Amino acid sequence: MKAYNWGILGTGNIAHKFARSLMLLDNAHLYAVGSRDAGRAEKFAAEFGFSKHFGSYEEMLADPGLEVVYISSPHSHHLQHTLLALRNGKHVICEKPMSITAAEVTEMIDEARKNNLFLMEALWPPFQPSYLKADEILRSGKLGRLLHMRGRFAFVSPYDPELRTYNLAFGGGSLLDIGIYPVMDILRYMGEPATVSAVSVFAPTGADESTAMIFTFADGRMAEAYSSFSNMGGVSTEFNCENGNLILTRGRDRSQHLIIELPGDTDDRIFTPPAQGYQYEAAEVMNCLDRGLTESPVVPLSFTLSLARTLDEVRRKSGIRYPGRDRW
Ligand SMILES: NC(=O)c1ccc[n+]([C@@H]2O[C@H](COP(=O)([O-])OP(=O)(O)OC[C@H]3O[C@@H](n4cnc5c(N)ncnc54)[C@H](OP(=O)(O)O)[C@@H]3O)[C@@H](O)[C@H]2O)c1
Repeated sequence: MKAYNWGILGTGNIAHKFARSLMLLDNAHLYAVGSRDAGRAEKFAAEFGFSKHFGSYEEMLADPGLEVVYISSPHSHHLQHTLLALRNGKHVICEKPMSITAAEVTEMIDEARKNNLFLMEALWPPFQPSYLKADEILRSGKLGRLLHMRGRFAFVSPYDPELRTYNLAFGGGSLLDIGIYPVMDILRYMGEPATVSAVSVFAPTGADESTAMIFTFADGRMAEAYSSFSNMGGVSTEFNCENGNLILTRGRDRSQHLIIELPGDTDDRIFTPPAQGYQYEAAEVMNCLDRGLTESPVVPLSFTLSLARTLDEVRRKSGIRYPGRDRW
């Protein structure tokens, strides 16, 4: 089994979780970490056992031994950092959302293809055990045709204009931060919508505190999605089918529930992947590289682009704006 030299760009909240997950994979070598601050890079490297640490992203990306980079900066910087990594010849897995607009996502995809390098958006749910089981059940036909979906992602994030989540300069707002998950679920199972309706409630910074969306599809089906920083609505996606329902939810402890509702019968299965399950997307990157692939069949770039286009359309309809970034 080939081992890959991994680098992490940024040392924030999710970078810590990803590093902890990476430690579980025998073929992942924790090679380098890059931070804007040398001290933070050194501390992060010591905590997880990375071989090298750099006080700038540029220095890390210039290291010839580095093969794959995980981009964990705020959404606002994914474009810049992904292009930098690709131009230095590194394969990339970039945190969600891939970028602020579909036009920017297209630029990133073009750069990866031009350099024949791997690129994937770090959409972790499709690799989780609960999702794999849901796929199997939906494919089995037991529930009949999927007719409707409803997804939500809501938790209380008290308003603070300095926080990444409320600061437009960092791509703040509930839609791009958490609404992307229910929208992703809907697109994965129903395809790109024919029409999009959306309304948002805004925080004083102009970031969307809450966004509600309704999608319709060419075959007459509908789906609803909702994201919010204003309430403890939690995380769930409902699949309403001909014969029953399937519900995917996550607990606050990150346990994953798969509930199957059939007339007179409810089955609640619980999955608790180690290290919150970020290792599966990292394993996917290495599986693809082993097979000489430059994109993942599970989260292909065409899907990432379709998701970005749909999020653009939601923003057009609901009035969410990112000054200087609205290249529709
Ligand atoms: N998959 C998931 O479950 C999940 C969960 C949370 C977040 N995310 C995604 O991960 C990304 C980062 O989120 P986070 O919560 O980890 O954010 P965070 O804690 O603020 O960390 C972001 C890191 O990016 C680096 N960075 C680079 N340029 C920056 C700038 N101009 N301002 C601030 N930081 C900058 C910083 O690292 P250095 O200071 O070391 O350079 C910082 O620690 C977001 O795109 C978010 O959507 C994904």
